[in-house]
Amino acid sequence: MHMMCTGWRTVSALGIMSIGFVLVACGGEAEGPVVPPPPAPAEYADKHMPAGWWTDAAKMEEGRKIFIGETNPDVNCASCHGKDGKPVKAGARDFRVADRMKLYSDSVWFWRISEGVPNTKMKAWKTKLSEEDRWKLVLFERNFGLAGKGWDGENKSWVDAASVGAAPAAAAAPEATPAAAPAKPAPAGK
Ligand code: HEC
Repeated sequence: MHMMCTGWRTVSALGIMSIGFVLVACGGEAEGPVVPPPPAPAEYADKHMPAGWWTDAAKMEEGRKIFIGETNPDVNCASCHGKDGKPVKAGARDFRVADRMKLYSDSVWFWRISEGVPNTKMKAWKTKLSEEDRWKLVLFERNFGLAGKGWDGENKSWVDAASVGAAPAAAAAPEATPAAAPAKPAPAGK
């Protein structure tokens, strides 16, 4: 981050126009323009959050423990993405940016955790995490920008979690409490 900002400042010495870049690079949103992620490859396109999990606070809490490295110190997403979702390593995805993250389906999110992003620090985690653990991570990470929401595969959008694949039995259950979000992230500063 600091290197990056220094870099931009060096660039800014070259011209007035780059003042804008300095603001962008060193301001809240250091990720560049919001572009949709690539589609999930075939083997992941049909994978979805297990039924009923979007509103399952216990699963989400398990996801939090994996995310911060409490479950397994070798798996510490927070060491780059930040405990509260504010990235602590340059370039790590900022999950608080809802405008970007809402473009990620549950399948894409799961695919990226499984296979990583080539040529970046984001490595593949599938050898260290079961499928269930990876879904718990999706469940937790979505809180930073999309709290209380779940991916609606039919309408291809994030909607109120309680309305995703609500089984008749679940509908009769007491009103799903808005998932008690641990470590509620601060609003994205942008
Ligand atoms: C060593 C640092 C590091 C660690 C640890 C790490 N990530 Fe990442 N992660 C990154 C970076 C950097 C990116 C941005 C990659 C890119 O440029 O698309 C990223 C991107 C992502 C993305 C978005 C991918 C995309 O297409 O935009 C997800 C989802 C993600 N990480 C989840 C996780 C999860 C879950 C863990 C823990 C199991 C984790 N990350 C651990 C560095 C890390």
